[in-house]
Amino acid sequence: MFTSGGTQSNLQALLLARDEALAAGADPARLRVLAGECGHFSVQKSAALLGLPAGAVVTVPATRTSGCAPTRSRPNWTAAPAKG
Ligand SMILES: Cc1ncc(COP(=O)(O)O)c(C=O)c1O
Repeated sequence: MFTSGGTQSNLQALLLARDEALAAGADPARLRVLAGECGHFSVQKSAALLGLPAGAVVTVPATRTSGCAPTRSRPNWTAAPAKG
């Protein structure tokens, strides 16, 4: 699959992930996207476009030494506004 750039790639990836999760029976209100703290703002915009609940994008600590790779710290799942 080819896309026109990073923003469209993020949207496409989240669309596929959302649809797969919903097809597997996930509760839409409990969907979460883990994004590195240095991630592109299009992740937030894409999540909103796809109808994910407010707070669905959970920012996780990331290292900038190899792109935006998540560190080993556990994400703060429970702090997301839509608890689930
Ligand atoms: C991870 C990531 N997402 C999104 C973008 C935005 O890409 P574009 O300007 O092609 O939409 C970039 C650009 O570098 C990126 O690195």
